[in-house]
Amino acid sequence: MYDTGKVLIGLLVFAGIFLFPFLYNRGTAAPQPKPSLDTPAIKALPEKKCVEDTHFMITTHMQFLNEWRDQALREGNRWYVNKEGKKIWISLQNTCLKCHSNKKDFCDKCHNYAGVDPYCWDCHYDPNGSKL
Ligand code: HEC
Ligand code: HEC
Ligand code: HEC
Repeated sequence: MYDTGKVLIGLLVFAGIFLFPFLYNRGTAAPQPKPSLDTPAIKALPEKKCVEDTHFMITTHMQFLNEWRDQALREGNRWYVNKEGKKIWISLQNTCLKCHSNKKDFCDKCHNYAGVDPYCWDCHYDPNGSKL
């Protein structure tokens, strides 16, 4: 039989630990970083557009990259057709990082802020890594 009191205390402790960073950071959290779009490839674009619309990219790029990987490796199809019907070569390093060649001021800037550290770079190469 459950000891309701203990369960409740457990839940409260859990909620406290879980909420602490949010409450603690209230008002003092660093402003959300602005990822830099200042790269030669992006400067040269006739239209400042990502592979899909900006909102989609901000909110969904994590799942999107997984889908890219699955399509490229499991289905062996490296051409992605975006919502506008444009064909795009699937490659983390040669497509994403070609435009976003400033990984440190782009990907890393948000990820450090959000406290995520994608393990992709254990294997994938940042073509500009040596220069950063
Ligand atoms: C053709 C160049 C190009 C390619 C390739 C590209 N991007 Fe982008 N990306 C852009 C541009 C330009 C913007 C800014 C769009 C805007 O300001 O509306 C952007 C915006 C973004 C954003 C939103 C940033 C923000 O907060 O404003 C994310 C996230 C992103 N890209 C991730 C990726 C990923 C992941 C890939 C590979 C799947 C990729 N991009 C491929 C040019 C590119
Ligand atoms: C506008 C801010 C922003 C930019 C720019 C950005 N990311 Fe992210 N990314 C995030 C956030 C926030 C998360 C965590 C989302 C979550 O956990 O739901 C994330 C998560 C990820 C993940 C999943 C990590 C995991 O452990 O689940 C991958 C992969 C990733 N990003 C790749 C990239 C790449 C590659 C770039 C640069 C081309 C990039 N991101 C640029 C904000 C950004
Ligand atoms: C254990 C090593 C390893 C890790 C970690 C890894 N990958 Fe990969 N990934 C590979 C290999 C190997 C390929 C196949 C390369 C090829 O065939 O050109 C690949 C291919 C891909 C592709 C399609 C083709 C390409 O060249 O980009 C995408 C997209 C991709 N991975 C995304 C990711 C993302 C996002 C992460 C992090 C969340 C990640 N991978 C982590 C090894 C890895």
